[in-house]
Amino acid sequence: MPIYFAPGRVNLIGEHTDYNGGFVFPCALDFGTRLTLTANSERLLRFRSMNMAETVDVSIDQPFRPLPNHSWANYPLGSIAVLMQQTGCRLEKGYDLLFEGNVPLGAGLSSSASIEVVTAYAFNDILQLGLSPTQLALVAQQAEHTYAGVNCGIMDQFISANGKQDNAVFLNCDTLQFDYVPLHLDDVSIVLTNSHSPHKLDAGTYNQRVKECQQAVNIISRHKPIRQLADLTVSDFQEIQSTITNPVILRRARHVVTEIQRTRDAVKALRNNDLATFGQLMNQSHQSLRDDYEVTGQELDTLAQTAWQIPGVIGSRMTGGGFGGCTVSLVRNDAIGHFQQTVADTYRQTTGLQAEFYIAHTGGGARTLQQ
Ligand code: GLA
Repeated sequence: MPIYFAPGRVNLIGEHTDYNGGFVFPCALDFGTRLTLTANSERLLRFRSMNMAETVDVSIDQPFRPLPNHSWANYPLGSIAVLMQQTGCRLEKGYDLLFEGNVPLGAGLSSSASIEVVTAYAFNDILQLGLSPTQLALVAQQAEHTYAGVNCGIMDQFISANGKQDNAVFLNCDTLQFDYVPLHLDDVSIVLTNSHSPHKLDAGTYNQRVKECQQAVNIISRHKPIRQLADLTVSDFQEIQSTITNPVILRRARHVVTEIQRTRDAVKALRNNDLATFGQLMNQSHQSLRDDYEVTGQELDTLAQTAWQIPGVIGSRMTGGGFGGCTVSLVRNDAIGHFQQTVADTYRQTTGLQAEFYIAHTGGGARTLQQ
């Protein structure tokens, strides 16, 4: 009985840049989703999860299509459907798929990408399709577009497929060229703080941001030929910005262009062991996501802004899509206790909610646990 695994992720910097052809800098976590696959003789895909009450059966003899009511099974079904469509392969028998995940759900740590990627990885293996990790990430991204309705970038699926322990991935989302960058953090930890906020970045709001960036490209292209916002440097943007008269579109574009530069600068700082600069860029990233991209909200702002005041915190920002989910903070090990106490107290007093903390451990990308 083969068992597979794909991880969740935390993005250290480079938010809402991926679908603009920019840079991101995520690392894979040691938590993720496990998939046990067993062939059956029913000609059914039977989707079960230890984390979800809903069970779903899909016939392999009908054309696959998205399931109604936001079913969780759209993630794995989408990956299988896209994989079959892109490779021209057909399933000759049914399979029982049993998922078990330990990525906190709704925490912005890519539990859905880990389900999509583990499924694409498993079927690529069992049907011997020969796709590379990056090709599997593209299949999983397409599943998210067509079966979950979110026009996401490539970051989450890419890192889930290509992650490497003790490294972050500096990824150019236009060319998909990437470098592993070792995380030598010495006496510093990556601390995730779950806001447990009821607000979520839903598909509608996310797709709206994607659209606003496209609108910015359309306006700017009348004056300067660009394909995507990543084609502009910060100084190009300063020259051209007066042509964008809509203040919302202007702010969205400014976030993307400056965030891409911050991501480059942050990776350079890390390579020079300059964590202080890396941390300042994380804080600036949060401010830009708060003021220009408007995807933070009171909960994430309280978490980040409280963290900035605490000695031993090198940097702190929201991570992932935004609104709910987690912040990521770099904290000196001897300050973690005080950090957790202070953030939890201030957060409870301000929002009435209970924050939860995880020390992040990096891990590898999608893999086979048992043949
Ligand atoms: C979500 C998407 C990613 C990326 C982030 C924001 O996690 O799935 O593609 O756009 O939001 O950086």
